Amino acid sequence: MLLGLLTSGGDAPGMNALVHGFREACLARSIEAFGIRGGFGGVTDRSFVDLADPAYDAGIVARGGTVIGTGRRPDLRTDPGVDAVVEGLGHLALDGLAVAGGSGTRAGVERIRLRTRVPIVFVPATIDADVPGSDSSIGFESAVDHGVRALDDLRSTASSLPGRAYLVEVLGANCGRIAEAIAAATPVDALIVPERPVDLAGVAEAMRAAMARQYAIAVMTEGCGEAGDVAHRLAELIGARVRPTVLGHGQRGTAPNARDRALGLSAGRLAAEALADGRGGEIRIGGGGARFVGVGA
Ligand code: F6P
Repeated sequence: MLLGLLTSGGDAPGMNALVHGFREACLARSIEAFGIRGGFGGVTDRSFVDLADPAYDAGIVARGGTVIGTGRRPDLRTDPGVDAVVEGLGHLALDGLAVAGGSGTRAGVERIRLRTRVPIVFVPATIDADVPGSDSSIGFESAVDHGVRALDDLRSTASSLPGRAYLVEVLGANCGRIAEAIAAATPVDALIVPERPVDLAGVAEAMRAAMARQYAIAVMTEGCGEAGDVAHRLAELIGARVRPTVLGHGQRGTAPNARDRALGLSAGRLAAEALADGRGGEIRIGGGGARFVGVGA
């Protein structure tokens, strides 16, 4: 039996734990396992690595990013794009495939499933935590932890030089969950997220009041605009400079925390075991852990 695993879309902390968990479950059953390089691009280009290689031992679990690489495939929204992947799966002669990624990847997997008999297990792995069917995703909490640490650092300088205002832009695309989880862990003076109408006058008022007390910190999701522009508009309303900080891709590349490692390891094992039994479906993250759900369940 030959199983494959690929990571797709934006990388997420914990993807390497997933690779390792998948590898270990395959080795335990004497199943050959390929890591497909660069996401679905590795399927069409037949680019893969043997996961039995010692390079994929437990040492990778602590690392951010994904050691097998990832890629974005917008063409999976089209029939020719899906056909190319299905053809590539045939050439690789896989008996099952695990695919880790976010909501866009999941939608692509649903289209591929309709055209192939190869069982596929989708695994929610994205910092955005916006995958339907799961409460969370592998990588979300590490990105939140990174943001909390960044705000803690900002507070050190803000409290040393009082009277200033800061605006921190966090990742999350059009989903405010990362910003909300950061704000739940370290109180901020204002939160700007795509899910709620933006009231810049209200934000400015809250920041002005906080500056009068000591200093002001607002957090915004990237999907609400460019931090530099928003800081400029707030500065005009407040009548004082607002300093923007963009956490950017470093937030995504941060090392996985303990929970994302554990989720990745467990999801990797579950995906391999399901595929070894010839079953496709998806891993759901919620209730403190990962569980496998078969296709159509
Ligand atoms: O993977 C999710 C994500 O990190 C989003 O939070 C962000 O908007 C996007 O990817 C960035 O994508 P790219 O790396 O293509 O700039």
